[in-house]
Amino acid sequence: MKTLRTQVLIVGGGPSGLLLGQLLHRAGVETLILERQTADYVLGRIRAGVLEQTTADLLDQAGVGARMHAEGLVHDGFELLVDGQRHHVNLRELTGGKTVVVYGQTEVTRDLMAARTAAGLPTLYSASEVSLHGFDTDHPSARCVVDGEAIEVHCDYIAGCDGYHGVSRASVPQGAIRSYEKVYPFGWLGLLSDTPPVGHELIYGRHERGFSLCSMRSNTRSRYYLQVPLTEQVGDWSDDRFWDELRRRLDPAAAGALVTGPSLEKSVAPLRSFVAEPMRFGRLFLAGDAAHIVPPTGAKGLNLAASDVHYLSQALIEHYRERSQAGIEHYSARCLSRIWKAERFSWWFTSLMHNFPDEADIDAKLRRAELEYLVGSEAALRVMAENYVGLPW
Ligand code: FAD
Ligand code: DHB
Repeated sequence: MKTLRTQVLIVGGGPSGLLLGQLLHRAGVETLILERQTADYVLGRIRAGVLEQTTADLLDQAGVGARMHAEGLVHDGFELLVDGQRHHVNLRELTGGKTVVVYGQTEVTRDLMAARTAAGLPTLYSASEVSLHGFDTDHPSARCVVDGEAIEVHCDYIAGCDGYHGVSRASVPQGAIRSYEKVYPFGWLGLLSDTPPVGHELIYGRHERGFSLCSMRSNTRSRYYLQVPLTEQVGDWSDDRFWDELRRRLDPAAAGALVTGPSLEKSVAPLRSFVAEPMRFGRLFLAGDAAHIVPPTGAKGLNLAASDVHYLSQALIEHYRERSQAGIEHYSARCLSRIWKAERFSWWFTSLMHNFPDEADIDAKLRRAELEYLVGSEAALRVMAENYVGLPW
């Protein structure tokens, strides 16, 4: 068996793991990343698209913000489309100057991978049979198989950045972890196309046929989503069927402005709220989707992963520089306080904008009243905007 040694072993080479690796590297802390998939597979997953200002700042701090500044689109607001009427939510005005940046998770990941390669930092791709050991002792380690060769890695700490289906959370003894979960009775069917976006800003739409979202990756690439039943198969959705259904859920002006084209990618994502507590077990930390999932409506998933990584990198840097345990001790509580607020916002926005099958009449009436109140009250819009741009760290 081959034996390796590093200071911080990072399990998972998605945005959380890569960003943590980059921040630690800049502070002189050694890392090794174990990633189950190939780099191309990781880059092929189309996911989030909206970055909070704090996430953008963290990418700058990691030294990977240049392309985001050059190519990302700063958005001052978005539109809420409620039963045919569009309402502008001016984030900049409602929050005293805050905005978001539209820059895809794929591009963030590509920039982080390029920086890691340029710095000559080690990532073992296609690492299978990853198992974690001894994280309740002072000598944690991991084992895996790469290209048929068994590898053992000794380290000071393990960062579990391996997403919802990863090995890290699954390695924690059942009695030591508590999880909270809500599964929504619908999914999002997403379509990516090389067509100009329907408008300058995102449109979040509520309609009796279901939720829709008009988003984008650039001025020439669009990302659209439709609420669909969980039973829906992506193979049953031709591009034409998708475009027809989207048009039906938009107002006449947006439907008329919609430019359609062949899809580059189509997939269905389930919607879930999930939190695991705590987020540290001895020398194992969970970060990002490994610890929590939000339904995508508020665009919080990737941004929450970034705030975990911010707290974790600070804790580890403080430990190596000052021999302080304070950040490590407080890691879980610091993350969870922000996570639960983002969970609340994502659940609220999801509940407000989607159709719930078998909903009681009174619930439908209450939701309608809440929507009417929201679009008619500057105070309510301010609360929404404050959460959408991201709560402070
Ligand atoms: P991931 O991106 O899941 O990365 C984890 C990495 O760990 C993966 O590369 C995986 O291959 C690797 N891994 C897993 N198991 C192992 C193992 N045993 N050993 C080694 N490596 C392992 N957020 C939004 O804000 N907006 C969206 O529109 C949006 N859409 C989404 C659509 C889908 C289908 C999904 C799943 C998520 C979506 N999200 C969205 C959420 C957002 O993409 C995530 O919050 C973000 O990817 C979290 O990053 P992460 O690095 O923590 O986890
Ligand atoms: C995107 C996804 C979201 O969940 C969201 O709220 C905004 C944008 C996107 O993929 O572009």
